[in-house]
Amino acid sequence: MAERTKFILDEKDLPTAWYNIQPDLPEPLPPYRHPATKEPTRLPPPLFVEEIDNQEHNTKDQWIEIPEEVMNVYRSWRPTTLFRAHRLEKKLDTPAKIFYKYEGTSQAGSHKPNTAVAQAYYNKKAGIKRLTTETGAGQWGSALSLGCNFFDIELKVYMVKVSFEQKPYRRILMKAWGANCIPSPSQDTKIGRKILEDDPECPGSLGIAIGEACEEAFANDDTRYSLGSVLNHVLLHNTINGLETKKLMTEYADAYPDIIVGCVGGGSNAAGMFLPFVKDKIDGSKPDLRIICAEPTSCPTLTKGPLTWDYGDVAGMAPITFMNTLGHNFIPPPVHAGGLRYHGMAPIISHLLKLGFVEAAAVPQLETFEAGITFARTEGILSAPETTHALRVGINEALKCRETGEAKTILIAHSGHGHFDLSAYDAYLSDKLDNYEYPEGKVKEALDHLPSIG
Ligand SMILES: Cc1ncc(COP(=O)(O)O)c(C=O)c1O
Repeated sequence: MAERTKFILDEKDLPTAWYNIQPDLPEPLPPYRHPATKEPTRLPPPLFVEEIDNQEHNTKDQWIEIPEEVMNVYRSWRPTTLFRAHRLEKKLDTPAKIFYKYEGTSQAGSHKPNTAVAQAYYNKKAGIKRLTTETGAGQWGSALSLGCNFFDIELKVYMVKVSFEQKPYRRILMKAWGANCIPSPSQDTKIGRKILEDDPECPGSLGIAIGEACEEAFANDDTRYSLGSVLNHVLLHNTINGLETKKLMTEYADAYPDIIVGCVGGGSNAAGMFLPFVKDKIDGSKPDLRIICAEPTSCPTLTKGPLTWDYGDVAGMAPITFMNTLGHNFIPPPVHAGGLRYHGMAPIISHLLKLGFVEAAAVPQLETFEAGITFARTEGILSAPETTHALRVGINEALKCRETGEAKTILIAHSGHGHFDLSAYDAYLSDKLDNYEYPEGKVKEALDHLPSIG
């Protein structure tokens, strides 16, 4: 059994409910605060439909049934496969057993459709006709385009202008699935027009694009906003992956991880993988399990950012959240892992870090690409630059095992392929990539602008 390479669930064994960690947390999450009044609040109603808001704040039900309409679409690519990385182990000459669960086989190429499909469904059910969202390099925008396409919802995606111009392929994918993708800042919103007036060449940022998408949703009754990470309901929808993995590890591979590694931008793929396992740490049955969140050295939210109140976006429209943050005004250096360039972190992950159930490691860009190439040359998969952060940390742990002789079981959350990131690999392979140092001064400056909460 141990020599098997692939572990595959039958479609009929797909989990039928998501796992909600909130009732199992030893301490509840602090409530969001309203961006204007600073009072405790739920998600702003004009932005999100009721059912999504209820999931966000559900502290009672451990299991949330997945609607049949969502299951139906999930079945078009789920379950995804768990692999044992025999060739990588051999290359590293390590006694560690390395497993990875590959989410790159969804139609959009990453874990993001796990929540995109669910969010499109709940909005459709509530009678919503249009959604708005932002996207950096285009992974989330393309995933939501896919979800909206299946549920016949119009979608407008504000794509960070520099990526819109430099990376045309994902926006073509969005268009193919029927979405309207425009560069941000744009002339379509007040925020966009103001920014363009001050700086017509502004390259855009995720914080600006979130502001534009929220403004448009606030202004139109039939429109809601959708976020691809950070929030509790997004992590919840991604637990389908961790649940599949837990079943495959324990029932098919006769294994249980000593270490789980996932990369973190806002935290949705890593948490989707580890939340069903963290449960075993909280109830004391697996006290030695280590869970490591991998992030870029240049945007080290968990390893360097304080746990405090901050806005989710530059414009200060999103709820104020208690989370690890580098400051909402902080614009991270342009590393190729665009999906990890976010100033904040999921409140659930920040909370679990504080309580000591998860840890974090920061890794520099060049080392992540080196890990990506090692993985491509052993396991064959060209990984998204975001995912290579998890690969780097997983490989580092396997190399430690080589030193100590321990045969630890390492599970890596593999969040997506890098087929649209070839220019980044080209730059790495032709020695044109650099590391970005931790921008300490810029973070200090951004942390001076945190909201004050009594
Ligand atoms: C492939 C991939 N992995 C990881 C991430 C990071 O997001 P999250 O932390 O929400 O999983 C992204 C975000 O765009 C992504 O595209």
